[in-house]
Amino acid sequence: MISTASAAAHPNIAFIKYWGNRDHKLRIPANGSLSMNLAPLETRTTVSFDTDLKSDQLTLNGEAAGGQALERVSTLLDRIRTLAKINTYARVVSHNSFPTGTGIASSASAFAALTLAGVTSLGLELPEKSLSQLARTGSGSASRSIPGGFVEWEPEGESSYAYSIADPEHWDLVDFITLISEEHKKVISSEGHKLADSSPLQKARVADTPRRLDICRKATLDKDFQAFGEIVEQDSNLMHSVMMTSDPPLYYWQPGTIEVINAVQRWRQEGLPVCFTIDAGPNVHVICPAEAADKIRPKLGSLIDVKSILECTPGGPAWLLEPEISGV
Ligand code: DP6
Repeated sequence: MISTASAAAHPNIAFIKYWGNRDHKLRIPANGSLSMNLAPLETRTTVSFDTDLKSDQLTLNGEAAGGQALERVSTLLDRIRTLAKINTYARVVSHNSFPTGTGIASSASAFAALTLAGVTSLGLELPEKSLSQLARTGSGSASRSIPGGFVEWEPEGESSYAYSIADPEHWDLVDFITLISEEHKKVISSEGHKLADSSPLQKARVADTPRRLDICRKATLDKDFQAFGEIVEQDSNLMHSVMMTSDPPLYYWQPGTIEVINAVQRWRQEGLPVCFTIDAGPNVHVICPAEAADKIRPKLGSLIDVKSILECTPGGPAWLLEPEISGV
């Protein structure tokens, strides 16, 4: 017997970042975070629980995957199996519309889509809060790819989950993801989170997070780009300071990363509303209000180290796909 369902989710970019866990296994974060879903980028995933299978199987972007990737998927499937009180294995076929492992959090959209497809295939109907909690245990940032638009993730307790603070239509922001390198990153976030506490700066970063969250949430709700840009850049710099001062240190930046940072600062001095933020990779997210996008786009295109650009706007929540149109 086969029970199947397909779902999709957008990745997200954190304006106030999650770095470090209080509980690594359950992914209870050290601090709250705030993000925006990134349309049109998406992961599409089909989950089929099949009584004929002898183990879980995973296909990622057309290739069979094993090792850590499969283990992580199986751990989430185990949680879903426990909820549904079954022990049937599943086939998972997943496809990203964007390069994987480059600091665009593909694990966020992947585990959000996996959660929704897995739960639905077994006929379980869970509220958004429970889906977010479940997705969080697969990848922390996936908790923020379940709800739509602008999303905040509460750090508190085992039930830690994320919820929308504003719809995607609330604020017309554009995120130009400048790809400096498409190489698979050397230290994945899950390993990075474990190193966070070895930096003497992490305590101060975590203690100051409620202040940054308040400023960022207010700036987002008020659509105050200047206040928004200042806090988003400070938060990114704080996280990278922790990364660079952990033991061993993590350096995600490349020369091209600095080229984009310097350019953003220059354009701002020239009067353009624009800011940057960087995740666990060399690529820079250059963010501006939609009105400024036509001015920023050609300028980014002329930077030497920018290999390509993905242009994103605020995206909706994770959604179900009809199996025949899932394309996976
Ligand atoms: C730098 O959610 O990818 O993108 O929970 O181990 O899967 P795991 O980590 P992940 O960490 C994201 C780190 C970040 C910041 C953020 O998205 O908040």
